[in-house]
Amino acid sequence: MRIIVCDDYDGLSLTAAKMIASQILLKPNSVLGLATGSTPVGTYNILMKMYADGETDFKDVLTFNLDEYYPIRDDNPQSYHYFMKEHLFSKININPSNVHILNGTVTDAAAECKTFERLIKKSGGIDLQLLGIGKNGHIGFNEPEANLNAGTHLTKLTQSTIEANSRFFENVDDVPTHALTMGIATILRSKKIVLLASGEEKQHIISSLLEGGISTAIPATMLKVHPDVTIICDRAAYKGV
Ligand code: F6R
Repeated sequence: MRIIVCDDYDGLSLTAAKMIASQILLKPNSVLGLATGSTPVGTYNILMKMYADGETDFKDVLTFNLDEYYPIRDDNPQSYHYFMKEHLFSKININPSNVHILNGTVTDAAAECKTFERLIKKSGGIDLQLLGIGKNGHIGFNEPEANLNAGTHLTKLTQSTIEANSRFFENVDDVPTHALTMGIATILRSKKIVLLASGEEKQHIISSLLEGGISTAIPATMLKVHPDVTIICDRAAYKGV
């Protein structure tokens, strides 16, 4: 794993945006895996600006989002459909038919996950997967558990994730208890992985990730088997190891 430590959140966002823009420059029809949450918002803001300034073109880019709550409607402001539209897709020239986000309204979740995996495969695979990291080490909604070799699947959120994400909802009871998520196996099939971590609250998990071995108790440590992972963090998230 390569680690880039930036002075602050703005530096982290700029570094990540430049990496994504470079990926698109090298391969205009890149397949991007995208994350939601607070951390990538700055990166998306810079990408929007790069598009507005004519520096990046998303015309031929394909995207697959990591996860979506389940069940949830697309027009729910807390859905990841809504988030992506608001924070990126409505501000760039991406072709809506190139955007793939798991559908939180389906009745057959297993079929939805299977279709999603098939579409990733058909696209040629994810060139660059952007990730955030939960305080418990989750990536996507892959929570700590004994077995972490799944593809895209329906999962139950842990209480710690429900509480962490309740900041976006009116109250904790409104947070869906389940989600559809790319699995660790899906994530590891990406050609390149970029994980972002910002702020003191991520310091502990980043130290565990860098210092420790591979354990399903910290799902992000599974990334250690991948040959091309870059962690971009700010000084607050990195105490130095
Ligand atoms: C989001 C996702 C999650 C977040 C993680 C960190 O699509 O899959 O794993 O990346 O919960 O969230 P923030 O960035 O809000 O700290």
